[in-house]
Amino acid sequence: MDMREKESKYILHTYKRLPIEVDSADGVYIYSKDGRKFLDFFGGIAVNALGYNNPRVNAAIMDQVKRYMHVSNLFYIDSQIDLAETICNLSGYSKLFLANSGAEAIEAAIKISRKWGSAQEKSGLIALSNSFHGRTMGALSLTDRPKYRNGFGPFLPDVDHVEFNDRSELKAKITAATAAVFVEFVQGEGGVNVLSDDFVEELFALKRKYGFLVAADEIQAGIYRTGKLFSFEHYGVHPDLVTVAKPLGGGLPLGGVLVDATVENVLGYGMHGTTFGGNPVACAAGLATLRELTEKRIDLHVAKVGGYLKLRLLDLQKEFPDFISEVRGLGLMIGVECRTECSEIVSDLMSRGVLANCTNGNVIRLLPPLIIQEEHADMLISELREVIEDRVKIATR
Ligand SMILES: Cc1ncc(COP(=O)(O)O)c(C=O)c1O
Repeated sequence: MDMREKESKYILHTYKRLPIEVDSADGVYIYSKDGRKFLDFFGGIAVNALGYNNPRVNAAIMDQVKRYMHVSNLFYIDSQIDLAETICNLSGYSKLFLANSGAEAIEAAIKISRKWGSAQEKSGLIALSNSFHGRTMGALSLTDRPKYRNGFGPFLPDVDHVEFNDRSELKAKITAATAAVFVEFVQGEGGVNVLSDDFVEELFALKRKYGFLVAADEIQAGIYRTGKLFSFEHYGVHPDLVTVAKPLGGGLPLGGVLVDATVENVLGYGMHGTTFGGNPVACAAGLATLRELTEKRIDLHVAKVGGYLKLRLLDLQKEFPDFISEVRGLGLMIGVECRTECSEIVSDLMSRGVLANCTNGNVIRLLPPLIIQEEHADMLISELREVIEDRVKIATR
């Protein structure tokens, strides 16, 4: 049995795999067992901020493995505490709860919101249309998209959805019983949609009026992906809860919730927890990643390379307006909306050695490692131009 047959036989069919058997990865490239080399604009879906095989991250992992891999959260764990100190100091948040994944971070944020609300008869949770917050039952209750929800109900009670960027619906649905509003300031799975300044302004005006919590889901957009530590910083606001994951563990599973000082005492001893949350090795990798990202001023780099890439994509849109309908996003979280379904475009790109992801049917989502250079952006543009030219030729034949 070859690898693909074995996968099909033994692994539950929840992932439709790309036709690449990965051999190794280094920098911004992935290498397949059959000798192909791929420029990675997929980035492990926003996990691999420093690309692959970063020596500082690898060394931190090895050092921690030699000391210990797991003890229990009932002990003091230095890599965990140092990671929390670093991210709290960088962000201005007060404390961090550590979990293993994005969905678990969302679950923790839901529990904090409900517990906080229970003291004042607030239990309503609101999320936005087209949102993606994960696939556990709590997170899925917030996630709006039928593709992920169908057949899995009933969901958490007292959860409602508001149309993305619709101020009047937000105003209509928020009440004194609203405990928390969950938002991705830049939606990832939903097709790289950026919240409008007006909507955010309304949200925070309503928060001042009704006193609910705002939970920013920064699982995909956070940790410098958009050129700032968190995407909400582009709006000059300060949510009460911030969920993080993906790049937080430097490639190892790690998720967390940052809390503002006003809600840091909502959960007390024993009220929430998880055996593996804040695994020492994942925290060591995450700490090395954060140090590397900040010392290298990745925020400035992302703003520069992301700006360059976006301009070049906008040029491509001008060249092919019948093909590309919109280029949007912030930093190195960019969506190229096509006028037709984009899975074939992404697979043409793959056959030319460039990996990208197709989301929401017609959006090419670019989430490269944050260390890419302008030359890599040029390589993507040149391959994408040829893919589009080929497609236009076929269509006009
Ligand atoms: C914005 C957002 N929230 C939550 C999640 C869920 O994270 P995980 O897959 O680690 O459970 C994701 C994953 O893609 C995400 O993009």
